Amino acid sequence: MGKSVNLAIIGSGVVGSAYINQLINSKSKITFNVIYFAKNSKDAIYNQDYKPINLSNWKSQSYKPILNLDELIKYLHNSPKPTILIDNTSNEIIANNYPNFLKAGISIATPNKKAFSSSLKLWDEIFEAAEQDENGLVYHESSVGAGLPIIGPLKDLVETGDKVETIEGIFSGTLSYIFNEYSTTEESNVKFSDIVKKAKKLGYTEPDPRDDLNGLDVARKVTILARISGFKVENPTSFPVESLIPKQLENVQTSEEFLEKLSQYDDQIQKLKDEAFAKNQVLRFIGKVDNLNNKVSVEIGKYSFDHPFASLKGSDNVIAIKTNRYPNPLIIQGAGAGSEVTAHGVLADTIKIAERIAK
Ligand SMILES: NC(=O)c1ccc[n+]([C@@H]2O[C@H](COP(=O)([O-])OP(=O)(O)OC[C@H]3O[C@@H](n4cnc5c(N)ncnc54)[C@H](OP(=O)(O)O)[C@@H]3O)[C@@H](O)[C@H]2O)c1
Repeated sequence: MGKSVNLAIIGSGVVGSAYINQLINSKSKITFNVIYFAKNSKDAIYNQDYKPINLSNWKSQSYKPILNLDELIKYLHNSPKPTILIDNTSNEIIANNYPNFLKAGISIATPNKKAFSSSLKLWDEIFEAAEQDENGLVYHESSVGAGLPIIGPLKDLVETGDKVETIEGIFSGTLSYIFNEYSTTEESNVKFSDIVKKAKKLGYTEPDPRDDLNGLDVARKVTILARISGFKVENPTSFPVESLIPKQLENVQTSEEFLEKLSQYDDQIQKLKDEAFAKNQVLRFIGKVDNLNNKVSVEIGKYSFDHPFASLKGSDNVIAIKTNRYPNPLIIQGAGAGSEVTAHGVLADTIKIAERIAK
């Protein structure tokens, strides 16, 4: 008989639904038995005797109340097979409990960046707990750049003894789109505020675009990469993060009012764009880890027209990793958001864990 592993899947939002679909159609030789499925923060399916759930018709099944986290950890700990928690939520409380799952011998695959980009204390607790139990593995490729291979290759470089000098990248699909449209290698008269409005209309931004423009999402991703490269970042606000929200608009009540007033501040960023253009440069919103100078930052950067960041299209992410072995940076580029690519990163992590723990 082939090997199998048990899964507990939490969340069925855009990523969670795509994950279930990909899992059902997985080509892996390992059998994945889903023993717990919480479709949202209220409803779950599970059997006390660990009988696998059939997820092919998950939308029409009957649900019962979810287990609280202590009950869930106990239920999964007592599972007769090695078990992986798939956290397809952005829930902070679940993330804070990763050390408890790991200590109970439950592995984790997740696109949820909360646990890895909050306090350094939580990061240390997670990876110390993972070392305590041979079944406690934690993979989170999709927490940066969605399914793009960034965390795995970066870890490989570090663990094989390469020295990371700098990591520089465009990590927000939303801000990638906004700057790719706004600051181009050809002269254009588009206004920053109009591009932000267009991005919101196309569904590229958070419901309140200030949640993209404040730079915190990029800061969280840079925190993760910095930590993997050996830089002990305390938290995502412990280094300079440039916000694209004009100070005067930080506290306006609604996102509609914010968007309406944003045009009053177009001149500030227009000046930067014009100065850059005069030097054959474009503006890009980047995160940077500089291990040579012990600096981490999130800021507007200027790149010459022939730089790979200048020719970026749509909402792609790009990352340039410069190391001793790669003095010409290793460049990884592609879609950095979207349900299918994110879910495939989580499923690939699930399979990698299963290959190590399945019985
Ligand atoms: N979408 C992307 O392109 C993308 C890219 C990279 C990474 N990610 C990450 O992937 C994760 C999922 O993103 P998403 O876009 O799929 O989010 P989403 O559409 O908002 O879905 C989140 C799901 O999690 C559920 N959930 C929240 N708290 C829960 C709890 N305590 N117990 C059980 N279920 C709970 C939600 O149910 P309720 O409605 O009941 O809260 C919902 O089903 C996030 O961490 C996100 O940052 C997403």
